[in-house]
Parts: sequence; structure tokens; C-alpha cells
Amino acid sequence: MKRRIAQTLALGLAVLTGTCAVAQLPWMNKPKHYAWSDSTLSPDQRADLVIKEMTLDEKISLLHGQGMPFFSNAPSASNGGAGYTNAIPRLGIPAIQMADSAYGVTRGQAAGRYSTALPNNLGAASAWDTKSAYEYGALIGRELRDEGYSMTLGGGVNLTREPRNGRTFEYQGEDPLLAGTLDGWVEKGVQSNNIIGDLKHYAVNDQESGRNSVNANISKRAMRETDLRAFEIALGISNAGGVMCSYNRVNGDFACENSYLLTDVLKKDFNFKGFVLSDWGGTHSTVKASHAGLDMEQPDKIFFGDPLKKAVESGEVSQDEINEHVHRILRTIFASGLFDHPVVKQVPDVEGGYRVAQQIAEKSIVLLKNQRNVLPLSSSVHSVVLIGGHADVGVITGGGSAQVDAPGGSAVPPPAPKSIMESFMRAQWLPSSPLRALQAQMPAAKVTYVSGDDPQAAASAAKSADVAIVFAYQWESEGMDLPTLDLSAAQNQLIETVAAANPKTVVVLETGSPATMPWIDKVAGVVEAWYPGIRGAEALAEILTGTVNPTGKLAITFPKSDADLPHPKLVLPPPESEINFSAPGADISNIMSRMAKGLPAFQTYYDEGLKVGYKWYDAEKKTVLFPFGFGLSYTTYAYSGLSVTPGDTTSVSFTVKNTGKRAGTEIAQVYASFPDAAGEPPKRLIGWARVELAPGESKQVSVPVSQDRLTVYDEASDSWKLVPGKYAIRVGGSSQDLPLQKTVSF
Ligand code: BGC
Repeated sequence: MKRRIAQTLALGLAVLTGTCAVAQLPWMNKPKHYAWSDSTLSPDQRADLVIKEMTLDEKISLLHGQGMPFFSNAPSASNGGAGYTNAIPRLGIPAIQMADSAYGVTRGQAAGRYSTALPNNLGAASAWDTKSAYEYGALIGRELRDEGYSMTLGGGVNLTREPRNGRTFEYQGEDPLLAGTLDGWVEKGVQSNNIIGDLKHYAVNDQESGRNSVNANISKRAMRETDLRAFEIALGISNAGGVMCSYNRVNGDFACENSYLLTDVLKKDFNFKGFVLSDWGGTHSTVKASHAGLDMEQPDKIFFGDPLKKAVESGEVSQDEINEHVHRILRTIFASGLFDHPVVKQVPDVEGGYRVAQQIAEKSIVLLKNQRNVLPLSSSVHSVVLIGGHADVGVITGGGSAQVDAPGGSAVPPPAPKSIMESFMRAQWLPSSPLRALQAQMPAAKVTYVSGDDPQAAASAAKSADVAIVFAYQWESEGMDLPTLDLSAAQNQLIETVAAANPKTVVVLETGSPATMPWIDKVAGVVEAWYPGIRGAEALAEILTGTVNPTGKLAITFPKSDADLPHPKLVLPPPESEINFSAPGADISNIMSRMAKGLPAFQTYYDEGLKVGYKWYDAEKKTVLFPFGFGLSYTTYAYSGLSVTPGDTTSVSFTVKNTGKRAGTEIAQVYASFPDAAGEPPKRLIGWARVELAPGESKQVSVPVSQDRLTVYDEASDSWKLVPGKYAIRVGGSSQDLPLQKTVSF
């Protein structure tokens, strides 16, 4: 007992003073002082001091995982997350306990732990809000720490080249500036808890079909200005400690043994100081991967365990190279604050999590259509029927390794899994009920629910209600792609039938990607709620009733149909180069060993190059359903008075006025059209501002545009260049509504 008290006191003191390092609790007798405990030294100096004391075995032990605990082969010191590196007690080096946490900390159910399911990442990106992004990350970091983890495996920032990608919901949309900035702030928030941040999946991992074998063919310029640019920006803001290399090949080499990506770009050009870890089973070699810049194999030690030790002993991999890998991991442990602030489990602040989740959901929901002001539901609305989408009990979440378990179990019980992998890929519904939330917001009205299984019954319920709200969803998960952006035929049919019965029909979408809307002209309103998280229904009810004025704007284009995409048909792998994750009996060790051997490559050609998202539709002159940057509000805004002062940082100033009767927040966007010589798509987002305005209020807004937002990548000189010429600077409320324009020369 006395010893326990002494330990607690010692720990408390260490945490308070922040000067004296202690090892993690399980093996802590008394806090030890090491030369590297001195927090006045730099992380690099501290790492070097440790390395001097390390044996080769200790070094190697940091460079790989120990298996996946939930598949039962991990050592007991693992906290149950997807990844784990051993501690080195002799030297006071803590374990790195990693957990997936894209939109919240995962795998709570198995461990009997609560974690907050935030709105999914693409949803939250619709807030275009660095402050919310930071809070999003800070909450995840706090809960990781509370649950005993020290590193996130979140931070997905792959640009949406292929919106049918089953992980689109985990990413931040289609523009590198927006995605990179928001992801950077998320990771900054995570790391504010002395937790190691992560960015993934590096790089060009833009579809799930055949992700372990696909070879993404893409030009250097396209890569640098799009997918890699998002990583560069996110890294610049967050200094994330980890970057996870992806499963796919890029221009021939697997991403985790691709020296261009890992060394030339990430470590040299981006000046990344942290460590590269492989996606799970994404390591395919020892010497090649080590030379290319992979620092850590996860989750196993197939290549970076004994084979790496042997490669060092035989001289194939030098001591310096091993020290470099180890240095990156150790300096990250110091730089993140993990060494000085050991993780101590605590009960998470559930209420606090709910609050943050709701605030972010309120900013994420996008009002797409609002004919004749069907919304907000006014006091003259006496009856509302909610139809379909399990809106009586919950809201859907995205699946795969990002899955945040529903507290108390899924509100819609999933079918029993037929394989271990399938248990990762079942739709879970959070217990946030749109029916109950709307009833609470509209106590004087009759708010009811019908399932929609029988469209005729739904239509007659709709007929007798003032307003009908159909809930439609599209579930997404890692390990699969959507065959199409179309909703299921049954849902489309249900919407048509209900809309025919009641002109005041509103559709609420819970999707992780854009959806096509063949019924768009027949419904009065459309609200995109995404996968809105544990307080999603409450936020949605506030938007529907006008308690909250919607502010969200799309971080991704909604095309009219699959036919308008750069690749109208999803590029599918031949069967021999595909792993079927949900095949009955599919088990992880089997899958890992197939992956390690490397599956036969198949090709995708990203010939659309720079034309990702809105840049594609602009350049190809394709009309879209809803453009990038679009979102309605219950008030209206007017733009005027643009002035542009070019310089190292160009200042773009203009006035936004709230011309309606409600307070609101406008997301004002700034785009540039480049001179022809630049060879760029018609426009590029170069900045934005969130402008809060009272009714009738005007504000002058100034958006600083640093020069790197206007440069292009020159392959010949491998550098960024500002192309001299005339630039049109355009300002407005969406990528297709830009009333202000001024031409300036650079
Ligand atoms: C996913 C990663 C994830 C890892 C660990 C992989 O299948 O691609 O995003 O972090 O598993 O769960």
C-alpha cells in the first residue's frame, strides 16, 4: 500500500514538474533519472543519448510491432489497440500503444471502454473550421490518453480522386489546401495531449479495391500538387510524429519501400522529423524498405525483426541506417512529450465528448436544397413523419479499422460476422435517435416514424403529415469501394414515392461520399448529415428546426452521375491480385502473409492528373449536382469591394454582408485562375474565411494568401515556381458562385 502511495506521489510530482521522466506504471518501482531525462535538452539530443546506451536487439525491438492484440497473439502489455511496440524498461523508454482513431478511439466494445464517436472526417471538413478541427483532434487525443494509448493511427488525408473509395468518409475531401489544413489542425489537437500524431495513408492510396496490389501511375507534378501537397500542408501545421505509408504501389514501388516518396519527398523536401510506419501488412522487404526510408514495420516483425538484425550483422544495412530509424522513433517519443508525461488511464469525460461532438456536427451538416423555405420547420408545422433509415433509433457510422463502437452496442443490431475480418465491416448505428431528437425540439407537433419498408404505407403517412422527412443512407467501410454513388434502388424509389405524396418532402442523407439524386427536382429539401456522430441526431434536429442556422459547405463535389467521374467505371483488380476481406473464414494471419508476399500488381492511371474534384468538373465543363464549397443557410449573404494587394503574402480583402433576417456564419472562399502558361485547371482554392454576421451586419474580411498557394511544381527543376503572368482572383460563397473578381499580375 505504502509503495502504491509513493508511486502515485512520484508520478504526480513528475507530471507536475515535467522535468523528471518516469517509466510507465506497470513496471515502475521508482522513477529513474537518466541522462535523457533532462527536458532542457532537445528531442534530438535526448534521442542520441539513449542510442549510445542501446544494444542492437533493443534498437531492433523499436522498429517493429508485436502482432495484433485483438487477434490474440500479442503480449499482455499491449493495451489492445491495433499496434504496439515494446517498452525498454532498462532505459525508461515507454511502449508506443497505438489505436485507430479517425473519428474517435476504436475498439471500445471489446475492451469495455467508452469513446466519443465524432462526425466522420469528411463531414467535419464541411465546417472549413481550423478551430473545430483542433477541438476534434484534442478530444481524440484526450480519449486516447484516458484509454491508455500513446499514438493515434488516424489522420487520413488522401485526396478524393475516386469518391467511390470506401474510405472517403475517413478523409477530408478533394482539395489539398482545405484537406491538408484541416487534417493538420486535427493532428495538432491530438498532439496537444502529449500523444503521437499520425498522417496516413502516404500516398496516392485512393481506392480500396485491390489496395494491396494496385500500382498508381501518376506524374510527379500531379502528385506533388495534389495528394502529396495535402500531406505537406498537414505536416507543416501539425509536425505529426508519425506518417503511415500506404499499401499500394506508386509508379512501380510499394509506398512502404518507395525511396522517392519516403526519403526524397517526405524526409528531405518536407523535412519530416518523425518516423514512417507501414500500414498493417504493408511492408514487403527488409533491405529495400529500410534503405527507402521505412522506419517501423507494423503490426508484425516479418521483415524488421530478425531479418533486419541479420541484415545489420551482414553489413547489408548499416548501423548508421538503423540508428537513423531508431533516432526518429525516440526523438518523437521525446518531442511529443510522451516520455515526460507518461500515459495514465482515466475515465473519459463522456459529457464533454458529447458536447464537442454535437458542436462539430452542427457545423458539419450541409443544407443542399431548400425550396420555398420548407426548412426550418416552423411553428405552423403540426405534424412531421420521419421515414426510413432507422431514424427511430440511430444514425449510421463508417466501418473498418476506423469504426468507433456504439456505446451499449449498435442501435440496429448487425448480422453475426462470418469471419474475423467481417466483424470489422458491419454497419453500426449510434444510439442518437432523429425521432426522439426532433420530438424534443418540436414538443407541440406530432412527430412520428414509419420504416419505409412498405413505400405505399410511407406515402400515405407522408400524405397525412405537414412535412415528410425521408432518411437515406450509404454505408461505407475500409476494405471495399462503393460500386456506385447511387443510393440503393429501394431508397431512391422510396424518396420518389414519398415526394409524389407530399410536396413538402425533405431528404436527409447519411453518407460518407457524395450521392447522386435522380429525384432532386421532386423534393423540396435536402440535408447532408454525413455520419454525424454520437450527437448527430440532436444537431440535425436543431438544424431542421432552425435552432441552429446551417453553415456547412461541401468539401467534395456532388456529381450528377458516375458517368461524370474521371473514371466512370471503378478500376477493379483481377481476382488473383485481390484479397477478399469479408470472405467467410478470412483470417488475419492468412491475409497478412499473402500481403507480405506481395500480390500481382495491376495498374491504375491517374491521367486526370491535377484535375482532382472540382478541378475536373471545371476543366471538363461538366455540370454538377452540388459544387465544391456549396452550402445553404437560413440567411443570405452579399459580397462586394474586392481589393487584392500582391506581395510575398498577397492580401485579398472584401466585404461580406448578411442580407437576411438571421445571424449566420458564411464561409467565404478565395480562388485563383492561373495564366495559361501555368497549365493549371481553371481554378484553385487559395484561401477562405469563416465570417460571423448578425442580421444586416457587414464585415470587411482579409484573407492572407502565402505565395506557396500560387506556385506550381516544375518537374524539370524539381522545384516550385511562380509562373509570371495575370492571375484572376475570385471570391464568393462556393466554387461556382464567385461574384467578385480582380486580375493582378505576379
Ligand atoms: C488500415 C489502417 C489502420 C490499420 C490498423 C489497416 O488495415 O489501412 O488505416 O490504421 O489497419 O488498424
